Amino acid sequence: MMKSTTTFLFSAALLGLAAGAAQAAPVTIKFSHVVAANTPKGEAAENFRQCVADSMPDKAVVEVYPNSQLYDDDKVLQAMLLGDVQMAAPSLSKFEQYTKQYRVFDLPFLFDDIKAVDRFQLGETGQGLLKAMQDVGYLGLAYWHNGMKQLSANKPLLKPEDAKGLKFRIQESDVLEAQFKALGANPQKMAFGEVYGALQQGVVDGQENTYSNIYTKKFYEVQDGITESNHGVLDYLVVTSADFWDGLDDDVREGLTTCLTQATKFGNDKAQALNDEAKSKIEAAGTEIRVLDDAQRQLWVDAMKPVWSEFEGDIGKDVMDAAQAANGAS
Ligand code: LMR
Repeated sequence: MMKSTTTFLFSAALLGLAAGAAQAAPVTIKFSHVVAANTPKGEAAENFRQCVADSMPDKAVVEVYPNSQLYDDDKVLQAMLLGDVQMAAPSLSKFEQYTKQYRVFDLPFLFDDIKAVDRFQLGETGQGLLKAMQDVGYLGLAYWHNGMKQLSANKPLLKPEDAKGLKFRIQESDVLEAQFKALGANPQKMAFGEVYGALQQGVVDGQENTYSNIYTKKFYEVQDGITESNHGVLDYLVVTSADFWDGLDDDVREGLTTCLTQATKFGNDKAQALNDEAKSKIEAAGTEIRVLDDAQRQLWVDAMKPVWSEFEGDIGKDVMDAAQAANGAS
């Protein structure tokens, strides 16, 4: 009798251990993105992965898939709701289908610089926008910076008329479409992974992007030069499925949040330097960079800014006012 009680207790303890072990299996988080590893987003994602590996290896494992290896940005959000990928950081221009409020980030010449973007994102309105897609199952966890966009084409772009009739690749955004139409150009929505080939083969004549993307994806090699216009911002929303996030154990969610806060600071502090470095490398490769003087830049402002009024209803005047209020203190 004694023996069988002991055996029973021992087996029960083993079962309990097994159940405990099963519960503690680390959560795998696939983090998909489209840019190169040596970019602001690539480096922030790697910092997040490393922090999780160092601080909570028994609770979560982050796998980072750069360069559209897993999904292009047009597919990743659907895959997230199916549970095939758990985190991503698409540009804020790629959420059109889910919320029209992020259109504020695409309005040309709205933000003076990335510091103003930062102030807006960290303010009450920007923080509120993280939750703009909860009704469709997505949760914004943080904003990550890339930087200000520049223009390029297969001919010099100094005046707005230089863009007339040219085909420009754009991200999935109706604001960006309107911005290029305002120049008399032909915008074409296209996934990031297809841009180099499209520029090289003349499917499109030009594009807009940050120096880090232009450098790491070699767009400069197949363009006449770059026009430093700083006409808009390219930033990211670190996004997850609300169901996935809410379903995590509290301690796992807290650990991931701590690592994400660290990675956000790391990447955002470094973004400007990575873009400056990319600019120098493009120049060193012999590609001309044309910096617009104030008078030249004003012509682009006059040509593009009228599109704001088309989108005020979707974005909300309060959101646009808050964004503008973030300027001026840099
Ligand atoms: C683009 O499509 O040009 C960008 O959104 C790519 C990126 O993630 O920076």
